[in-house]
Amino acid sequence: MAIALKFGFTPLARPRGVLIMFCEENLKFGPASQRTLSLVGDLVRRAAAADRFSGKSGSSLEIVAPAGLNLPRLVVVGIGKESGLKPQDLVKLGGIAMGKVPTAAATATIFAEFGSGGLKGDQVAELALGARLRAYTFDLYKTKRKEDEQRPDKIEVNFACSNPGAAEKAWSRGGAIADGVVLARDLVNEPANVLYPGEFARRVSGLGKLGLGVEVLDVAAMKKLGMGALLGVGQGSVHESKLVIMRWNGGKRGVDPIAFVGKGVCFDSGGISIKPAAGMEDMKGDMAGAACVVGLMRTLAVRKAKVNAIGAIGLVENMLDGKAQRPGDIVKTMSGQTIEVINTDAEGRLVLADVLHYVDKRFKPKFMINLATLTGAIIVALGQEYAGLFSNDDKLAERLTKVGDATGERVWRMPLGPEYDKMIDSKFADMKNTGGRWGGAITAAQLLQRFVNKTPWAHLDIAGTAMGSPQSDINKSWASGWGVRLLDRLVEDYYER
Ligand code: BES
Ligand code: MN
Ligand code: ZN
Repeated sequence: MAIALKFGFTPLARPRGVLIMFCEENLKFGPASQRTLSLVGDLVRRAAAADRFSGKSGSSLEIVAPAGLNLPRLVVVGIGKESGLKPQDLVKLGGIAMGKVPTAAATATIFAEFGSGGLKGDQVAELALGARLRAYTFDLYKTKRKEDEQRPDKIEVNFACSNPGAAEKAWSRGGAIADGVVLARDLVNEPANVLYPGEFARRVSGLGKLGLGVEVLDVAAMKKLGMGALLGVGQGSVHESKLVIMRWNGGKRGVDPIAFVGKGVCFDSGGISIKPAAGMEDMKGDMAGAACVVGLMRTLAVRKAKVNAIGAIGLVENMLDGKAQRPGDIVKTMSGQTIEVINTDAEGRLVLADVLHYVDKRFKPKFMINLATLTGAIIVALGQEYAGLFSNDDKLAERLTKVGDATGERVWRMPLGPEYDKMIDSKFADMKNTGGRWGGAITAAQLLQRFVNKTPWAHLDIAGTAMGSPQSDINKSWASGWGVRLLDRLVEDYYER
């Protein structure tokens, strides 16, 4: 029962449905807003005084059935000061505005105007992106609705702006980003009985129609390649492991691609080192890294990004079974290095060890960025506000930090270094898959690095940011789709030509 949301871009006149306007501090409205509000006399001023509303950032004023305007509702959203608003602030304001559309409303108009006048096309698209993300719900499995949750089947939102044509054009890009985030959220929210490796791979294959090349490697193919670490994780599941490779060739022919790698553990029970029962259901989201890579590749394809990009996701289910791998088992990775499995719950690094090596060797990418809900330790270190960033390349790390600040999907760099290596020394193999309680996110990253040669590489530990995050202005759902906006921006700002 997903709602159909239709966005339109219209001139700054004749609003329909719920009307949402922005104002700066001291009730400063733009000219078109003032013209429309002149129909209600001093209503807004009196309502604002009664509610002590002055236009502070994030505050709002709601007037039901405003006399003089033939509209069900007028909402004013405060933006504080217009100067200094960053793109990410506009996305947020779009989310706040959308949040003011009552669930029962079928039509709304958002006046895309601040104190100084109508917004530029790309600014309107930023508002629309926030609105789209805010409107996202995942209710595929709700067959009933409570009285107060009744929604119309279709919602039409019009962005009234000074240059509808420019806004529409900018939205062709913004919409591609929104759809990528929505896809990532959908995949993460899906339960693991529905979204197991085979089904995940099937859904990615469906993206072929957008011009993405999709290749699915099955267990036999991975055995041939010697991917003993990835295969060891999946061997206790009734669902066959898969490795999916996506390619987008939007750049110059023959130019080395950039590569994104995702952890796709469709369910992480912990395996024989089983997790405690409380909260284990969240581990259906342990494929959020893979979901982000898929959402990003979709965005790049739809907006026809001028870049050659590879997306690779290792899809497995980590289960308990007579065939499951045991603590103490030693697996051989495709790179030839061996790993002693001390704890079967440290499975993400085993999957990534093989996928990173494979991508590095086969595609010789300009850089590799992997995303993984890898460790609880990163949540202990950073909470849910920042993802952990580990990198062997200062330039790549700096760029990720910059686009993180620009999109609001922020990363915090963590250390790597040979001093940590002894923590993953094994008595029997080249290394072990856990490094003890201290610095757990770092020793995990340190292991990943052993499967990357000289290629510039970054690892984003998104265990804290991908799901279950505090609800924000642009997300009310469990899954956040974290990383799609960040990486799309990285590609646009630095790698498109
Ligand atoms: N998927 C988990 C990490 C995780 C925890 C993601 C919470 C999202 C929310 C990962 O596979 C895991 O179990 N890591 C262990 C590693 C430990 C056994 C060394 C952890 O963090 O406890
Ligand atoms: Mn685990
Ligand atoms: Zn896991």
